[in-house]
Amino acid sequence: MTSEETTRVGDLHSHLVPAVDDGARTLEEALEAVERMVAAGIGQIVTTPHVNASLTHDSSLLGTLLAEVDESWQELAEQVRERFPEVELFRGHEVMLDVPDPDFSDARLRLAGTSFVLVEWPRLQIPPRTTQVIERIASAGYRPILAHPERYAGIKRELDSAGAWRSAGAYLQVNHGSFIGRYGPDARSVASELLIRGWVDYLSSDFHARAHLGIHLRDAEDFFTAHDGLEQFQLLTVTNPGRVIRDQPPLPVAPMPISEGFWDGFKKIFKG
Ligand SMILES: [Fe+2]
Repeated sequence: MTSEETTRVGDLHSHLVPAVDDGARTLEEALEAVERMVAAGIGQIVTTPHVNASLTHDSSLLGTLLAEVDESWQELAEQVRERFPEVELFRGHEVMLDVPDPDFSDARLRLAGTSFVLVEWPRLQIPPRTTQVIERIASAGYRPILAHPERYAGIKRELDSAGAWRSAGAYLQVNHGSFIGRYGPDARSVASELLIRGWVDYLSSDFHARAHLGIHLRDAEDFFTAHDGLEQFQLLTVTNPGRVIRDQPPLPVAPMPISEGFWDGFKKIFKG
Protein backbone atom coordinates (compact mmCIF):
# COMPACT_ATOMS: atom_id res chain seq x y z
CA MET A 1 0.00 0.00 0.00
CA THR A 2 1.43 3.39 -0.95
CA SER A 3 0.90 6.60 0.97
CA GLU A 4 -1.52 7.60 -1.80
CA GLU A 5 -3.92 4.88 -0.72
CA THR A 6 -5.77 4.86 2.53
CA THR A 7 -8.41 2.79 4.22
CA ARG A 8 -8.95 5.22 7.08
CA VAL A 9 -12.18 7.08 7.54
CA GLY A 10 -11.63 10.80 7.07
CA ASP A 11 -13.80 13.45 8.72
CA LEU A 12 -13.71 16.89 7.09
CA HIS A 13 -15.99 18.72 9.51
CA SER A 14 -15.66 18.89 13.32
CA HIS A 15 -15.53 21.39 16.18
CA LEU A 16 -12.72 20.12 18.39
CA VAL A 17 -10.41 23.10 18.87
CA PRO A 18 -10.82 24.01 22.55
CA ALA A 19 -12.60 27.25 23.48
CA VAL A 20 -12.77 28.90 20.05
CA ASP A 21 -16.38 28.21 19.04
CA ASP A 22 -19.48 26.27 20.17
CA GLY A 23 -17.58 22.95 20.09
CA ALA A 24 -15.10 21.66 22.69
CA ARG A 25 -14.87 23.98 25.69
CA THR A 26 -11.67 22.54 27.14
CA LEU A 27 -8.69 20.45 26.04
CA GLU A 28 -10.09 17.54 28.09
CA GLU A 29 -13.42 17.75 26.27
CA ALA A 30 -11.61 17.81 22.91
CA LEU A 31 -9.52 14.75 23.81
CA GLU A 32 -12.59 12.82 24.96
CA ALA A 33 -14.15 13.67 21.61
CA VAL A 34 -11.11 12.41 19.71
CA GLU A 35 -11.17 9.21 21.77
CA ARG A 36 -14.81 8.60 20.80
CA MET A 37 -14.12 9.40 17.14
CA VAL A 38 -11.20 6.96 17.10
CA ALA A 39 -13.37 4.29 18.76
CA ALA A 40 -15.90 4.77 15.94
CA GLY A 41 -13.12 4.22 13.38
CA ILE A 42 -12.25 7.77 12.30
CA GLY A 43 -8.54 8.09 11.49
CA GLN A 44 -8.16 11.45 9.76
CA ILE A 45 -9.76 14.49 11.36
CA VAL A 46 -9.95 18.03 10.01
CA THR A 47 -10.89 20.51 12.73
CA THR A 48 -13.17 23.24 11.39
CA PRO A 49 -14.01 26.01 13.88
CA HIS A 50 -16.68 28.50 12.81
CA VAL A 51 -15.56 31.77 11.24
CA ASN A 52 -17.63 34.43 9.49
CA ALA A 53 -16.69 35.24 5.90
CA SER A 54 -17.01 38.97 6.67
CA LEU A 55 -14.06 38.63 9.05
CA THR A 56 -11.81 37.61 6.17
CA HIS A 57 -11.94 41.24 4.98
CA ASP A 58 -10.62 42.61 8.29
CA SER A 59 -7.00 41.53 8.40
CA SER A 60 -6.43 42.74 11.94
CA LEU A 61 -9.46 40.94 13.45
CA LEU A 62 -8.81 37.85 11.33
CA GLY A 63 -5.16 37.81 12.44
CA THR A 64 -6.21 37.94 16.11
CA LEU A 65 -8.76 35.16 15.69
CA LEU A 66 -6.43 32.88 13.72
CA ALA A 67 -3.64 33.41 16.26
CA GLU A 68 -6.02 32.23 19.03
CA VAL A 69 -7.07 29.21 17.00
CA ASP A 70 -3.39 28.47 16.19
CA GLU A 71 -2.46 28.36 19.84
CA SER A 72 -5.41 26.22 20.90
CA TRP A 73 -4.98 23.89 17.91
CA GLN A 74 -1.25 23.38 18.67
CA GLU A 75 -2.06 22.32 22.23
CA LEU A 76 -4.63 19.86 20.96
CA ALA A 77 -2.37 18.53 18.21
CA GLU A 78 0.46 17.91 20.67
CA GLN A 79 -1.80 15.87 22.97
CA VAL A 80 -3.36 13.98 20.07
CA ARG A 81 0.11 13.05 18.77
CA GLU A 82 0.99 11.69 22.17
CA ARG A 83 -2.24 9.88 23.07
CA PHE A 84 -3.55 8.87 19.65
CA PRO A 85 -0.48 8.50 17.42
CA GLU A 86 -2.58 6.67 14.83
CA VAL A 87 -4.72 9.76 14.20
CA GLU A 88 -3.87 12.37 11.59
CA LEU A 89 -5.13 15.77 12.65
CA PHE A 90 -5.49 18.62 10.15
CA ARG A 91 -6.80 22.12 10.43
CA GLY A 92 -9.33 24.14 8.55
CA HIS A 93 -12.39 26.30 9.23
CA GLU A 94 -16.11 26.26 8.51
CA VAL A 95 -16.72 29.59 6.84
CA MET A 96 -20.21 31.03 7.22
CA LEU A 97 -21.01 33.01 4.07
CA ASP A 98 -22.47 36.14 5.70
CA VAL A 99 -20.92 38.08 2.79
CA PRO A 100 -20.79 36.73 -0.76
CA ASP A 101 -17.08 37.34 -1.39
CA PRO A 102 -14.86 35.68 1.24
CA ASP A 103 -11.10 36.07 0.99
CA PHE A 104 -9.58 32.59 1.32
CA SER A 105 -5.99 33.65 0.71
CA ASP A 106 -4.90 32.66 4.24
CA ALA A 107 -4.26 28.89 3.95
CA ARG A 108 -5.47 28.38 7.54
CA LEU A 109 -9.02 29.09 6.37
CA ARG A 110 -8.86 26.17 3.94
CA LEU A 111 -9.03 22.41 4.58
CA ALA A 112 -5.56 21.09 5.43
CA GLY A 113 -4.08 24.02 3.48
CA THR A 114 -5.47 22.68 0.18
CA SER A 115 -7.66 24.53 -2.34
CA PHE A 116 -10.78 23.10 -0.63
CA VAL A 117 -12.89 25.33 1.64
CA LEU A 118 -15.76 24.24 3.87
CA VAL A 119 -18.57 26.78 3.64
CA GLU A 120 -22.10 27.14 4.97
CA TRP A 121 -25.04 29.44 4.31
CA PRO A 122 -25.86 31.74 7.24
CA ARG A 123 -28.32 30.76 9.98
CA LEU A 124 -29.31 27.54 8.18
CA GLN A 125 -31.26 29.58 5.62
CA ILE A 126 -30.68 29.75 1.86
CA PRO A 127 -29.91 33.37 0.93
CA PRO A 128 -30.55 34.83 -2.55
CA ARG A 129 -28.06 34.36 -5.41
CA THR A 130 -26.36 31.32 -3.89
CA THR A 131 -25.26 29.97 -7.26
CA GLN A 132 -23.35 33.18 -8.04
CA VAL A 133 -21.65 33.00 -4.65
CA ILE A 134 -20.43 29.47 -5.39
CA GLU A 135 -19.32 30.50 -8.89
CA ARG A 136 -17.35 33.41 -7.47
CA ILE A 137 -15.51 31.20 -4.97
CA ALA A 138 -14.74 28.62 -7.65
CA SER A 139 -13.56 31.23 -10.15
CA ALA A 140 -11.14 32.57 -7.52
CA GLY A 141 -9.46 29.14 -7.68
CA TYR A 142 -10.96 27.49 -4.58
CA ARG A 143 -13.04 24.33 -4.31
CA PRO A 144 -16.05 24.96 -2.06
CA ILE A 145 -17.54 22.08 -0.07
CA LEU A 146 -20.99 23.05 1.16
CA ALA A 147 -21.61 21.80 4.70
CA HIS A 148 -24.81 19.85 5.45
CA PRO A 149 -27.06 20.89 2.51
CA GLU A 150 -29.78 18.69 4.01
CA ARG A 151 -30.13 21.03 7.00
CA TYR A 152 -31.08 24.33 5.32
CA ALA A 153 -34.63 25.57 5.78
CA GLY A 154 -36.71 25.01 2.65
CA ILE A 155 -34.17 22.76 0.90
CA LYS A 156 -36.71 19.95 0.71
CA ARG A 157 -38.88 22.08 -1.61
CA GLU A 158 -35.88 23.48 -3.46
CA LEU A 159 -33.73 20.42 -3.92
CA ASP A 160 -32.76 21.51 -7.42
CA SER A 161 -30.74 24.32 -5.77
CA ALA A 162 -28.35 21.63 -4.55
CA GLY A 163 -27.87 20.52 -8.16
CA ALA A 164 -27.27 24.13 -9.21
CA TRP A 165 -24.62 24.53 -6.48
CA ARG A 166 -22.87 21.41 -7.75
CA SER A 167 -23.00 22.64 -11.35
CA ALA A 168 -21.52 25.95 -10.17
CA GLY A 169 -18.52 24.13 -8.67
CA ALA A 170 -19.55 23.11 -5.15
CA TYR A 171 -19.24 19.69 -3.59
CA LEU A 172 -21.77 18.53 -0.99
CA GLN A 173 -21.00 17.23 2.52
CA VAL A 174 -23.82 15.47 4.38
CA ASN A 175 -23.66 14.81 8.15
CA HIS A 176 -23.52 11.18 9.37
CA GLY A 177 -26.37 11.81 11.81
CA SER A 178 -28.77 13.01 9.12
CA PHE A 179 -29.53 9.46 7.99
CA ILE A 180 -30.94 8.54 11.39
CA GLY A 181 -32.99 11.69 11.86
CA ARG A 182 -30.58 13.51 14.20
CA TYR A 183 -31.64 16.82 12.57
CA GLY A 184 -35.30 15.95 12.02
CA PRO A 185 -37.37 14.18 9.36
CA ASP A 186 -36.85 16.77 6.60
CA ALA A 187 -33.05 16.60 6.85
CA ARG A 188 -33.30 12.81 6.86
CA SER A 189 -35.41 12.66 3.72
CA VAL A 190 -33.28 15.28 1.93
CA ALA A 191 -30.11 13.32 2.79
CA SER A 192 -31.69 10.23 1.17
CA GLU A 193 -32.89 12.16 -1.86
CA LEU A 194 -29.40 13.61 -2.40
CA LEU A 195 -28.02 10.05 -2.39
CA ILE A 196 -30.71 8.91 -4.82
CA ARG A 197 -29.59 11.69 -7.18
CA GLY A 198 -25.87 10.89 -6.70
CA TRP A 199 -25.17 14.41 -5.46
CA VAL A 200 -23.35 13.66 -2.18
CA ASP A 201 -19.55 13.89 -2.24
CA TYR A 202 -18.55 13.48 1.43
CA LEU A 203 -19.96 12.37 4.77
CA SER A 204 -18.66 14.04 7.94
CA SER A 205 -19.54 14.18 11.62
CA ASP A 206 -19.91 17.95 12.31
CA PHE A 207 -19.19 16.74 15.84
CA HIS A 208 -19.38 19.48 18.47
CA ALA A 209 -17.38 17.55 21.09
CA ARG A 210 -19.97 17.44 23.84
CA ALA A 211 -20.55 14.33 25.95
CA HIS A 212 -24.30 14.26 25.29
CA LEU A 213 -23.84 14.28 21.49
CA GLY A 214 -23.48 11.06 19.53
CA ILE A 215 -20.95 9.95 16.92
CA HIS A 216 -23.11 8.60 14.11
CA LEU A 217 -20.59 7.15 11.64
CA ARG A 218 -21.67 3.56 12.40
CA ASP A 219 -25.38 4.49 12.29
CA ALA A 220 -24.74 5.91 8.82
CA GLU A 221 -22.93 2.71 7.86
CA ASP A 222 -25.97 0.67 8.98
CA PHE A 223 -28.17 2.85 6.78
CA PHE A 224 -25.91 2.37 3.74
CA THR A 225 -25.67 -1.37 4.41
CA ALA A 226 -29.46 -1.66 4.56
CA HIS A 227 -29.71 0.11 1.19
CA ASP A 228 -26.98 -1.89 -0.53
CA GLY A 229 -24.72 1.17 -0.62
CA LEU A 230 -21.44 0.02 0.88
CA GLU A 231 -19.52 1.02 -2.22
CA GLN A 232 -20.90 4.56 -1.92
CA PHE A 233 -20.18 4.57 1.83
CA GLN A 234 -16.52 3.75 1.19
CA LEU A 235 -16.22 6.58 -1.36
CA LEU A 236 -18.00 9.09 0.88
CA THR A 237 -16.16 8.31 4.11
CA VAL A 238 -12.72 7.07 3.05
CA THR A 239 -11.77 7.70 -0.59
CA ASN A 240 -13.14 11.19 -1.13
CA PRO A 241 -12.10 12.71 2.22
CA GLY A 242 -8.59 11.28 1.62
CA ARG A 243 -8.57 12.95 -1.78
CA VAL A 244 -9.35 16.34 -0.19
CA ILE A 245 -6.26 15.99 2.01
CA ARG A 246 -4.25 15.36 -1.18
CA ASP A 247 -5.96 18.32 -2.90
CA GLN A 248 -7.72 16.10 -5.45
CA PRO A 249 -11.36 16.34 -6.55
CA PRO A 250 -13.77 13.64 -5.32
CA LEU A 251 -14.54 10.54 -7.35
CA PRO A 252 -18.14 10.37 -8.59
CA VAL A 253 -20.54 8.54 -6.28
CA ALA A 254 -23.14 6.47 -8.11
CA PRO A 255 -26.81 7.30 -7.43
CA MET A 256 -28.14 5.04 -4.67
CA PRO A 257 -31.57 3.51 -5.16
CA ILE A 258 -33.29 3.93 -1.81
CA SER A 259 -36.72 2.40 -1.57
CA GLU A 260 -39.32 4.23 0.47
CA GLY A 261 -40.35 2.79 3.79
CA PHE A 262 -43.42 0.57 3.93
CA TRP A 263 -45.56 3.21 5.66
CA ASP A 264 -44.48 5.97 3.28
CA GLY A 265 -45.66 3.85 0.36
CA PHE A 266 -48.88 3.03 2.18
CA LYS A 267 -49.63 6.72 2.84
CA LYS A 268 -49.09 7.50 -0.83
CA ILE A 269 -51.61 4.86 -1.90
CA PHE A 270 -54.23 6.36 0.40
CA LYS A 271 -53.49 9.89 -0.78
CA GLY A 272 -53.44 8.94 -4.41
FE1 LIG B 1 -20.15 22.71 11.67
